[in-house]
Amino acid sequence: MKIGILYGSSLGNTQFVADKIHKHLPQAECTSVNTLRAPQIESYDVMILGTSTWGVGNLQDDFELFVDLLLSLDLSKKTFALFGCGDQHTYPDTFCNGMGKLYYLLKEKGCKIIGRWPIDGYDFSESEAVIDDYFVGLALDEDNEPDMTNGRVKTWVETLNLNAIN
Ligand SMILES: Cc1cc2nc3c(=O)[nH]c(=O)nc-3n(C[C@H](O)[C@H](O)[C@H](O)COP(=O)(O)O)c2cc1C
Repeated sequence: MKIGILYGSSLGNTQFVADKIHKHLPQAECTSVNTLRAPQIESYDVMILGTSTWGVGNLQDDFELFVDLLLSLDLSKKTFALFGCGDQHTYPDTFCNGMGKLYYLLKEKGCKIIGRWPIDGYDFSESEAVIDDYFVGLALDEDNEPDMTNGRVKTWVETLNLNAIN
């Protein structure tokens, strides 16, 4: 089973988190989405996609370009897990919306998405990335809660249970 940890990161936060996830999944490939072409994307069975949120609730720039390529491919046999970096104090109404946008784009295409994450312990008012008190993937806040990241990443990767499948 080939796993890709594929991130879009403007200032390095999501890349930093991707590297942390990679430490727990050393068999995976970890790369920025802006380096990817169709054959490499198609080679992954599982894609762990990480985007930060920019503007007011938008996908990170590299992801804006990457999603068109991704969604043009046959994803019917792929499994996805999502993670996102945001700032819940400065953007409490759009916290990690980018991850939510990605979720709905993939869902519309019928993709299988694993790895939802409880909203307990966060402090925000609204997010497009929340369904029934769960984030659609792992939400991280390197701006306000960097000390929470290691624990959240470790627990989340364990719940994905990808090492067991491998
Ligand atoms: C201009 C600007 C707009 C932002 N908009 C949002 C937003 O709408 N929602 C959110 O959760 N975070 C928002 N953020 C915070 C970033 O997503 C956060 O700092 C993230 O960690 C950046 O990750 P990156 O360095 O991987 O791109 C914004 C930050 C800036 C500077």
